[in-house]
Amino acid sequence: MKVTVVGAGAVGASCAEYIAIKNFASEVVVLDIKEGYAEGKAMDLMQTASLNGFDTKIVGTTNDYSKTAGSDIAVITSGIPRKPGMTREELIGINAGIVKSVASSLLEHSPNVILIVVSNPMDTMTYLVHKTTSLPKNKIIGMGGALDSARFKYRLAEALDAPISDVDGMVIGGHSDTGMVPLTQHATRNSIKVSEFLSSERLEQVAADTKVGGATLTKLLGTSAWYAPGAAVSGLVQAIACDQKKMFPCSTLLEGEYDLNDICIGVPVILGKNGIEKIVDIELNDAEKAKMQESAEGVRKTNGLLQL
Ligand SMILES: NC(=O)c1ccc[n+]([C@@H]2O[C@H](COP(=O)([O-])OP(=O)(O)OC[C@H]3O[C@@H](n4cnc5c(N)ncnc54)[C@H](O)[C@@H]3O)[C@@H](O)[C@H]2O)c1
Repeated sequence: MKVTVVGAGAVGASCAEYIAIKNFASEVVVLDIKEGYAEGKAMDLMQTASLNGFDTKIVGTTNDYSKTAGSDIAVITSGIPRKPGMTREELIGINAGIVKSVASSLLEHSPNVILIVVSNPMDTMTYLVHKTTSLPKNKIIGMGGALDSARFKYRLAEALDAPISDVDGMVIGGHSDTGMVPLTQHATRNSIKVSEFLSSERLEQVAADTKVGGATLTKLLGTSAWYAPGAAVSGLVQAIACDQKKMFPCSTLLEGEYDLNDICIGVPVILGKNGIEKIVDIELNDAEKAKMQESAEGVRKTNGLLQL
């Protein structure tokens, strides 16, 4: 199992670290355009191997895609992150060109690769990869919902004053401050709906805090977060590498599911060795359906900025 991570920045390095620590991949190649940067991150991470007890080999390279040849899975984190006060959508001008050229270089050396798109605005970048490569739809996966759901569970546990392992919940829709749809009515604590414990006002607050989860951290850190994004990506990579058939909300090309067409947006999917093995089309209530359509409008607006 060979995994490539493009972008050795905050998210890329965190993702490579979590993949290595989980010890399921034989090799992780980290590639960056900045001279020596990926080599440095790879060497530093390799020096944690004996301390953290993993055997995954981590290799760094400055833009040499021949080192990525034969990758089973590749993660695209290259591009600029947002600064405080920015939306993810504002990154499109720079990141679209980067994501398009990175995807094409990866495919030249690994034609059968499964791509996980992380760079923002993520749903639009995932759509761009569909439009500019010949990969089948099951092999193009946008990561956003797994992170947003982890942030939702964090906020739910906080509101319930419960351990996070007691809590389950999912966020679907676009990966943006306004587009996320936290499924508050489906969230549970040990199989009991959280609406049994929390008032509708408190649940609305949980949803609102979840939606600005990234912006809150960007304001605190001065740049976008990396631990939870890296951990979320590593969860997707592991589900594919180990053929786990696990369910995550991921951005995927919809063709009629959720009454949506020709758009990549977050919905629950099953991840296994073939990438997206199934789109899970759950029944939403009228309010959730309306939020999903509104979210899709936002993603379409950003897609409209792409020069395809
Ligand atoms: N989808 C999500 O849930 C999620 C979460 C967090 C961050 N992000 C996004 O991930 C991206 C990376 O964030 P970060 O905090 O790691 O940024 P960062 O600036 O720390 O790292 C980005 C890296 O990409 C490299 N890079 C730029 N152009 C490249 C190219 N053409 N080829 C190879 N490498 C290139 C840069 O040199 C840099 O090291 C941003 O777009 C950010 O918005 C997405």
